[in-house]
Amino acid sequence: MNKVEFKNVTLSYGNNTIVRDFSLSIKEREIVGIIGPSGCGKTTIARALCGLMNPDSGEIYMDGQPVFSRSQRVNIPPEKRGIGIVFQDYAVWPHMSVFDNIAYPLKKQGAPQAEIAARVHDALEQVDLKGYDRYMPSQLSGGQQQRVAIARALTASRDLVIMDEPITNLDAKLRASMLVEIRLMQQRLGTTIIYITHDQGAALQLCDRIVLLDAQGSIVQVGADEDLIEKPASRYVFSFMGISNFIPVEEADGQYCLKLDHLIPFSKTRPEGWIDGPAEMGVRPMDMIIAPDGLVPARVTQATFLGNMYNYFVEIGGHEYRLQRSTLDSLNDRDYAVGEDVRLKFVNERYYPRKEAEE
Ligand SMILES: Nc1ncnc2c1ncn2[C@@H]1O[C@H](COP(=O)(O)OP(=O)(O)O)[C@@H](O)[C@H]1O
Ligand SMILES: [Mg+2]
Repeated sequence: MNKVEFKNVTLSYGNNTIVRDFSLSIKEREIVGIIGPSGCGKTTIARALCGLMNPDSGEIYMDGQPVFSRSQRVNIPPEKRGIGIVFQDYAVWPHMSVFDNIAYPLKKQGAPQAEIAARVHDALEQVDLKGYDRYMPSQLSGGQQQRVAIARALTASRDLVIMDEPITNLDAKLRASMLVEIRLMQQRLGTTIIYITHDQGAALQLCDRIVLLDAQGSIVQVGADEDLIEKPASRYVFSFMGISNFIPVEEADGQYCLKLDHLIPFSKTRPEGWIDGPAEMGVRPMDMIIAPDGLVPARVTQATFLGNMYNYFVEIGGHEYRLQRSTLDSLNDRDYAVGEDVRLKFVNERYYPRKEAEE
């Protein structure tokens, strides 16, 4: 059975429609990432599922039962939907102890004292904060505060937790370890998690399935992480999911050329996926290969060592592009210096009509 199902849900603030005709099924025990640029409607979707706003039309189901449906005259109030929520902006209440923060949803549900104490202590154990119940949030690190927020969501529900940008305020190292902790906790408890973020990297690391929205709040692709990376449905998906270069291309005299300050041939045979007419090549920095048999002359303009890779900028026909090499490649070869002339070829590149760039 689906844990959650949105059926043709449309969401507006006043006359301003934010999300149109949104349909999505989420299975039990799944971690689904909802990602997209800021302002596209991710939090709005979360609020509708929690019952904090009513759709204009469409239906929302949990465990096969409607929680919102105009036609069936159903609108289950937020506290009865049994959803745990971790929001970025008001993660923990500073004036309440850790215990009171976590106990809050249970107190609101009117649970007996003894049950509240037992469940709070259980949740603290789940997030590895045993013994911290009398601390105030100001006595905790950012990561610990975030774990208090997760513990609070878990006391509200072990079933379904929505995390809306839960770790955006943490530094990179802490973010990475929180993602691992969230995954381990989910495996232990079997919780279904909806993980909302504008950060595709976090979603790739954590989620079983990713739902990518465009700026208008429409779904552009749903799939496992490798689907979105290896089979992007459009230029938008390709450009959202990681770092990309886009280079105008054109066929001239049977040669396949970059169309920069001048035409630069890069292939004598028709590349896989080539499209006729005004087009551009999308290529990842890792797929721009420095090789003696490359047809494209380029010059290194910046070189930075990032620990596991070299990050370069190269100038091709008067334009700069990003190129990356794993340090493993460099073991077999070497790294390159600023000002050095190199030759390039491309692998795994894709072609898009040039008009898509303007959208
Ligand atoms: N309470 C509100 N009243 C009116 N407009 C809002 C409200 N909350 C959000 N919006 C607008 O709805 C759009 C989507 O917001 P939101 O769902 O918060 O985006 P996201 O979470 O993807 O960044 C934005 O344009 C935002 O300005
Ligand atoms: Mg948001």
